[in-house]
Amino acid sequence: TEVIPHLIDRALARGLAPLDAFRETLDRLRGAFALAVLIEGEDQLILGARRGSPLVVGYGDGEMYLGSDALAVGPMTSQIAYLDEGDYVAIDRTTARIFDAGGRPVTRQIRIIPPAAALVEKGAYRHFMEKEIHDQPGACQHTLSAYLDPVTGRARAPGGLDFSLVDRIQIVACGTANYAGLISRYLFESLARIPVDIDVASEFRYRAPPVRKGTLCIAISQSGETADTLAALRWCRDQGLGTAAVVNVHTSTMAREADILLPTHAGPEIGVASTKAFTSQVAALTALAVAAAAARGRIDAAEEARLTRLLLEAPRLISGALALEDQIRALAPELAKARDVLYFGRGVMSALALEGALKLKEISYIHAEGYPAGELKHGPIALIDEATPVIVLAPSDALFEKTVSNTAEVMARGGPVIFITDEEGARRAPAGVRLIVTPGCDDIVAPLVYAVPIQMLAYYVAVQKGADVDQPRNLAKSVTVE
Ligand code: AGP
Repeated sequence: TEVIPHLIDRALARGLAPLDAFRETLDRLRGAFALAVLIEGEDQLILGARRGSPLVVGYGDGEMYLGSDALAVGPMTSQIAYLDEGDYVAIDRTTARIFDAGGRPVTRQIRIIPPAAALVEKGAYRHFMEKEIHDQPGACQHTLSAYLDPVTGRARAPGGLDFSLVDRIQIVACGTANYAGLISRYLFESLARIPVDIDVASEFRYRAPPVRKGTLCIAISQSGETADTLAALRWCRDQGLGTAAVVNVHTSTMAREADILLPTHAGPEIGVASTKAFTSQVAALTALAVAAAAARGRIDAAEEARLTRLLLEAPRLISGALALEDQIRALAPELAKARDVLYFGRGVMSALALEGALKLKEISYIHAEGYPAGELKHGPIALIDEATPVIVLAPSDALFEKTVSNTAEVMARGGPVIFITDEEGARRAPAGVRLIVTPGCDDIVAPLVYAVPIQMLAYYVAVQKGADVDQPRNLAKSVTVE
């Protein structure tokens, strides 16, 4: 970015007009960027361009804006136009002249963004993350209502997605969205019997795996702008695969480029640490797994209605888990002293263990690792001593006894254990653990319920340490460059 002004300056010095100097400079640039350029002496002109990274134009009343997404300009105006890949723009106080990569003048649709995106406030909460954790019952309910019909008991896949034609699913995502994908793999495979491959997008896009026709690529992203996930989605599209995007920002690049939009309805998420977007992704994907199982004849109508009913219980159960807040807050002072924290679980809980560890490390800067509990003996158990807290995610499901025996191994080595379970699990938990008892629930909603205590744990540890919860160091909300 330091080079770009010099290139423009040289072109201006050769006598080119500002827009021509900008255009010539753009032709010389390689890589991904979103630019906003001011030129000294041109006080009625802002130039903008995007390649790889998103850029929106905001239309105000006698004023115009450039921003990275709708949220950025939301407080100023509700009218925005997304620039397409390669577009550049010249704006003055009242107009935006947009050009495509070939320099042809083009029109980009002006959209009205919903007021919710413009009016995001913390309200009575101290941090956006805290508010967003508490938003989860509503976020899940809104999301589920796009996929489940409480009257008919049917689960539906939006956008004409026909799972009976899908032989395989390839999930691509980054970070927390990737862990939502990992959870959904268990469900797509066990309920719908569709084989699922999942890769972090930054690896997938360069791995060039062999792909088969009949594979559906599902990209998962809160922002819909993550550079690696977008590149992986495009790669799949270029291989001729069908593409779908589970995204929270419905006007984002992924939402626009995928064949099918699978929306989450979490509302704007501001905290860098993803919470309600994650549970909304898990909710949408779980409902889709039920829809897929029904479409493929793996479950009958009665079972579909039963699973739909269970899933629709999720918002109430999440509210129940939020009531654990005081207990979780009480754990924070001790946990905040740890240098390392380990998270264990089995099945879907092993994926949630990864998410728990990510949440803790990104906002509290405590080193944390998540593992499938069965992997303990293969290495991580060597880390355990009296100073290494272990968080065990242990719903009383079919794997509970195995998780208990792994927990006993931890305790035998002096590791302090926080055991997150339900009432039934609490009765059978090993003696000496610190219990957190969540509302009892069916396996299908357990990831949504158990996500809440691990989010709150990370949040209160970060608050205890005085960390900047909503803007953790070195992190950005959406990673639009590689
Ligand atoms: C989540 O807490 C992280 N900040 C991060 O891992 C995030 O989930 C990841 O960057 C993906 O973002 P996306 O969902 O917008 O694609």
